[in-house]
Amino acid sequence: MNETSTPNAANTPLSQVWPAGCSIDSTGALTFHGRSAQSLLDEFGSPLYVMDTDDVDARAHHFIHAAATAFSNATTHVSFAAKAFMSKEVLRLVTNAGMLVDTCTLGEMRIALAAGVPGRRLVLHGNNKSDEEIELAIREGFAKIVVDAPDEPARIAAIAHRLGKTARVMLRVTTGIHAGGHEYISTAHEDQKFGMALLPAGADPSALNVLDELIAQESKPSQTSAEAPEPAARRQDTHTVGHNGQRDLQYDMRSPYDLDASGISKQDAALAEAMDLVARGPALAVLKELYRYPGDLELVGIHSHIGSQIHDANAFIEAAKRMMLLRKTFYATDAYTLPEVDLGGGYSVAYTEGEESMDIDVELQRLATAVTAINRALGIPMPVISFEPGRWIVAPTCVTLYRVGAIKHVGLPDGTTAKDGSPISERTYVSVDGGMSDNIRPALYDADYTARLANRAGAAGTMLSRVVGIHCESGDILVHECQLPSDLKRGDILAVPVTGAYGRAMASNYNQATFPAVVAVSSSGAHVMLRRQTIDDLLGYDLG
Ligand SMILES: Cc1ncc(COP(=O)(O)O)c(C=O)c1O
Repeated sequence: MNETSTPNAANTPLSQVWPAGCSIDSTGALTFHGRSAQSLLDEFGSPLYVMDTDDVDARAHHFIHAAATAFSNATTHVSFAAKAFMSKEVLRLVTNAGMLVDTCTLGEMRIALAAGVPGRRLVLHGNNKSDEEIELAIREGFAKIVVDAPDEPARIAAIAHRLGKTARVMLRVTTGIHAGGHEYISTAHEDQKFGMALLPAGADPSALNVLDELIAQESKPSQTSAEAPEPAARRQDTHTVGHNGQRDLQYDMRSPYDLDASGISKQDAALAEAMDLVARGPALAVLKELYRYPGDLELVGIHSHIGSQIHDANAFIEAAKRMMLLRKTFYATDAYTLPEVDLGGGYSVAYTEGEESMDIDVELQRLATAVTAINRALGIPMPVISFEPGRWIVAPTCVTLYRVGAIKHVGLPDGTTAKDGSPISERTYVSVDGGMSDNIRPALYDADYTARLANRAGAAGTMLSRVVGIHCESGDILVHECQLPSDLKRGDILAVPVTGAYGRAMASNYNQATFPAVVAVSSSGAHVMLRRQTIDDLLGYDLG
């Protein structure tokens, strides 16, 4: 076995990837609000998800506060994307903090309602909604149904009509902006199943560059009237919108796409051209359709979700610019100012020490500055701005505890390197009692995690380890690479942090593994939030 003198992670202080309530006790063991990992496994079994619910509460408040502070000139709504993690207790925590809840299947809707979340605080997503889901959302008075297909306006309107109710709807738009850590979680480019495209197929998006010029002009310090250039020749009927005398929109509001209109500035002609492109796109066509059922549908806004694990505001700003242009275009074509723009989820967290994560206080402020500038430049009021974080709220609040089983030292062929490029001759495979059935993300997205010994302080020396599960797949990896103490042995406890999002939520029964329990730990104690599945549960599905 290759032992190194790398400081043993189990003997080092906890980094920011561990929940706020975690610490290391005098024996070197990991604790959660004073409860040792060992005592939690003894009481609740292994493997075990341990969620710091005080941390969930704090992070929900943090996000809401960051959004409201950044957008002090707008109303903000923050929905928790329940696909990241769903339990009635967590839904109550986040809604008590002031969040709405996003759902996208009948199961998520029913659990949210069972948690006592009122319909007016629920959102329904989905690229292939069933009539049953649409009917439940309308009956319960959901805050928004996010339309995701061209036939949905008529379907939702018909169901609302039959129920004698009005459905609040928004349209999911693919802006052409993609972002995020992995191809499969970049969801706003056109070749995919979600949303309606902003631009016609094959359109050259360079016409949208005018938005940057407008923002740049908007951000310039205001000119005194003596310095201001002579305004372009104005026609009597030209609509002018100004702010602090900085800019007047001079295109003709009666026929904003009349590119031959004389007397409009070059920049306004460019804006009209961009709007003309958007006006010919699939998204605007569906907005028009949604607007056709005034008694049955109330059109509340537009929605964009550009991906996941996004570290800064840049891509959100690009998407927001295009969303505001769509809003402006819809006003120009249909005289309706969409009240709300939802910018979706995707705010990143660090999974391993030193990994980048989004500083939401800084980045939401940058986003707000840009969104304010574009709306000023377009001469339209700020909409309600909405967000849908999932991962950012729950991922760092949870740790999965596993019991160590077989340990194998595997010799490697010459030329094998570790992640950092250094040559390695041996890797230690540490098998634990869970695997891809409780955390599919490493196998699905090649996601990186870390692990540490949780029941004691280990030896000073460490070994380069790969943590693997029980499943019949060589890709059944939980941690690709981490340093673990060289005296690690069967029966020890390993802790893998940042497993609160898309872990339990994506769990499977592969190899008839049962779902681990989720235990909530807080300053008031520990209790089971989601119980462990049993073999009897599995046998119950099998009718012989
Ligand atoms: C529409 C929508 N909103 C929000 C989210 C939440 O994303 P995240 O958990 O990365 O914040 C997702 C994730 O897939 C999504 O599809």
